[in-house]
Amino acid sequence: MDYMTTAEIREAYLRYFEEKGNKRMPSSSLIPDDPSLLLTSAGMVQFKPYFLQQKQLEEPYVGTTTVQKCVRTNDIDIIGTTGRHLSFFEMLGNFSFGKYFKREMCSMALDFSVNVLGLPIEKLHFTVFENDDETIGIWKDLGIEDSHISRLGEDDNFWRAGPTGPCGPCSELYYDQGPDFGCGSPDCAPGCDCDRYLEYWNCVFTQFDGQEDGTLEELPKKNIDTGMGLERIAAIMQGVQSNYETDVLRSLIAVGERLAGVTYGKDSATDLSLRIMADHSRAVTFMIADGILPSNEGRGYVLRRLLRRAIMKAHLIGVDGPFLNEYVDEIVRLMGDVYPEIVENRELERKLILAEEERFGATLRQGKTYLESELSKLEGKTLSGKTAFTLHDTYGFPVEITAEIAGEQGIDIDMDAFDAAMADQRERARSAGAKDAEAAWSTYGGIYADILNEVGPTSFVGYDNTESSSRILAIVKQGDRVDSASAGEEVEIVLDITPFYAEMGGEVGDTGQIVNGDVKARVGDTTTPESGLYIHACKIEGGTLSVGDNVIAAVDVDRRRAIERNHTGTHILHAALRKVLGDHVKQAGSYVGPDRLRFDFTHFEALTPEQIREVESVANDKIMQGIPTSTYETTLDEARAKGVTALFGEKYGEKVRVVEAGEFSQELCGGCHVNNTAEIGFMKVTGESSVGANLRRIEAVTSFGALAYVNKIEDELKETAAELKVPMFDVSERTAANLKAFKEIQQAAKRAKETVSDDGITALLDQAVEAPAGYPLIIAKAPALESGGQRHLWDVMRSRMSEPGAIVVAGEHDGKVVLMAAGTDEAVAKGFDANALIKAMGPAIGGGGGGKPTMAQAGGKNAAGIDDALEIARNMLL
Ligand code: ALA
Repeated sequence: MDYMTTAEIREAYLRYFEEKGNKRMPSSSLIPDDPSLLLTSAGMVQFKPYFLQQKQLEEPYVGTTTVQKCVRTNDIDIIGTTGRHLSFFEMLGNFSFGKYFKREMCSMALDFSVNVLGLPIEKLHFTVFENDDETIGIWKDLGIEDSHISRLGEDDNFWRAGPTGPCGPCSELYYDQGPDFGCGSPDCAPGCDCDRYLEYWNCVFTQFDGQEDGTLEELPKKNIDTGMGLERIAAIMQGVQSNYETDVLRSLIAVGERLAGVTYGKDSATDLSLRIMADHSRAVTFMIADGILPSNEGRGYVLRRLLRRAIMKAHLIGVDGPFLNEYVDEIVRLMGDVYPEIVENRELERKLILAEEERFGATLRQGKTYLESELSKLEGKTLSGKTAFTLHDTYGFPVEITAEIAGEQGIDIDMDAFDAAMADQRERARSAGAKDAEAAWSTYGGIYADILNEVGPTSFVGYDNTESSSRILAIVKQGDRVDSASAGEEVEIVLDITPFYAEMGGEVGDTGQIVNGDVKARVGDTTTPESGLYIHACKIEGGTLSVGDNVIAAVDVDRRRAIERNHTGTHILHAALRKVLGDHVKQAGSYVGPDRLRFDFTHFEALTPEQIREVESVANDKIMQGIPTSTYETTLDEARAKGVTALFGEKYGEKVRVVEAGEFSQELCGGCHVNNTAEIGFMKVTGESSVGANLRRIEAVTSFGALAYVNKIEDELKETAAELKVPMFDVSERTAANLKAFKEIQQAAKRAKETVSDDGITALLDQAVEAPAGYPLIIAKAPALESGGQRHLWDVMRSRMSEPGAIVVAGEHDGKVVLMAAGTDEAVAKGFDANALIKAMGPAIGGGGGGKPTMAQAGGKNAAGIDDALEIARNMLL
């Protein structure tokens, strides 16, 4: 056999099955359509409904071949410790939906292995499900010796995509790497855990639909689902011992060698880090390119864990600080021609990864602080498994790092307890996943799939028309098929032809009416519960509509036009955001209604007011240029080659539709649009906010929506202007002036409270006497003195006394009495003690207080006691 590169093997496989009559299809997204799965983990995932025959495929699609990007992280902890497990891998597959079955498949698998790859037949072994005599017979007919065929049980040779759904016995092809790779056990055979027999191809004979009660229901057609691990077969073809030494992954290992200044193959701990860095960085790059963003749940959490694990492993071999972008560049170089999405989203991949690396730096510091505090409290030499688990689970701190830091202080970890906590967590996740899967499977199939199979897809004519002559093909009432519906009933109607756009890609469904003479149904919404099948949710307003009736279907035209303006407006906004903020801006969701639009996109910080203005200005400039829009169909590859903006996870298909507004905006889109950007009239951004980590939202209005928004602002302004009695555009100036005046009044009021009038001060100063101890002293009533004004009064008095002296004053306001004694340092030095005075005077006014020798105060309620209080002071001082 000859050396083949990964790229050569990939192409040879796809070409082989293409030549055998299979349609070559692109890899689908890592985000599966199937809600029972977190991530795409096998080539068959995109075809699940076809295996179950919930949907039918026509020639040429009844046999397909793909290379599918897959992520599997159920055993994340062993990735890197073996040469065979990867979190991201490519699966070469061929699929038959009733076209060919076991015999043809076995024959092609053997032919491809021996005649295309050149694998020596004597090194091949075949496993078969224990009771599958038919397949044993087939292998024998193909010339395989008995000693190379073995039977294995359900664990190895019965394949299921999930707890329920398509499944079947399988036959696996193994390559014997020779006894040197083996465990030496006399029982060593295909299926053994050692490295001697390497499983490289799994051929599943998908003939059952697994039910919730565990029984297997025969599928009407017999199908084939196969998967060959590209990295595994590359390792065989390249004569290397592990997936990590194959051409692509070895180049990624080299990035780590360069970053850490180490050599692969010298030390097992270093190798483990290098492998994990290479594998995880690849998974992360592909996940982001498909629209997965780091978060704390679901697939976002898987992404975050992979990122963090890579960073931690890098840390262990001395790579600190952001480094993962070095891998992104290499991955794009190595794989970008097969997976253009990683090239298109390169900026986003780079920026998101960098942001996560920086954020994790902070997490790491927190985790270390927690660990150090736990270590300092520790009695004994063993850290509990629970603490290690908390660090792992809450701080994303892998146990190796915990072990390393603890080890530096001679402390062990209770690994048994840690492993038990991990196993518990896995079990919880597994049972939650199983429940989700059960719930999700039940969403497949059902009445709409039956209708679609029976009547075929609806013909949509709504791009060019808002009215059509149609026939009623089916009516559904509360989940059941009915033949007719009459006035007052709420039903769903399926037509042969419809101008109603069904809610899709963010654009809301059309409303309108379905009419047959006097019989009228109001269409409140249009949806597609099954791709291709349009459902009109109606209320019958008069008469009876029956299956088979010819009707006129008419869309609410004004509403549709408003939706079109907002939809093209959304494309213009998207392009403007990319222009102003950069190419990392990627649509993550949208809502396009008749009254407003919403656009969610990847970006890492709030937009400044200036940026929002700039986006508005770019968008309105393009609107006013009156750019004609056009649509055309092309292939996804051609669209990508032309740089058309694709959404995350764009679905495969023969044809894609491109909507363009000149050079400025080209997007893949199935929605309804204006003919010329000028129809949008005017766009105004009404809001900008965060909708999750690294995601921003812009809300905007166009055309009449924008007019309504501007009118509302004007109405508010006019009302305010009327209140202020100024012209509209003086509102801000007048409001500022009024606020200033208001503040001045407030301050004046405060001053008034604090200030005893000038006359009052003079009157008080006139009452100064010389204390026997030799300082000027005033003991008097201060009529305007209120609580809160004492300090201010003393400040004024002090500055106006001829020599440093002291005062004792009493005031009354609103039934409250205030006493104050205050003296300069000079007076205090000569024996004045404000605190002692106030303490003595307090009881006379029915209250109390105190302070320091220089300043003391008291409050009370007995105004009749003021004279007595002052008399007490005189007695003490004079
Ligand atoms: N779907 C089968 C697997 O993933 C081929 O092994």
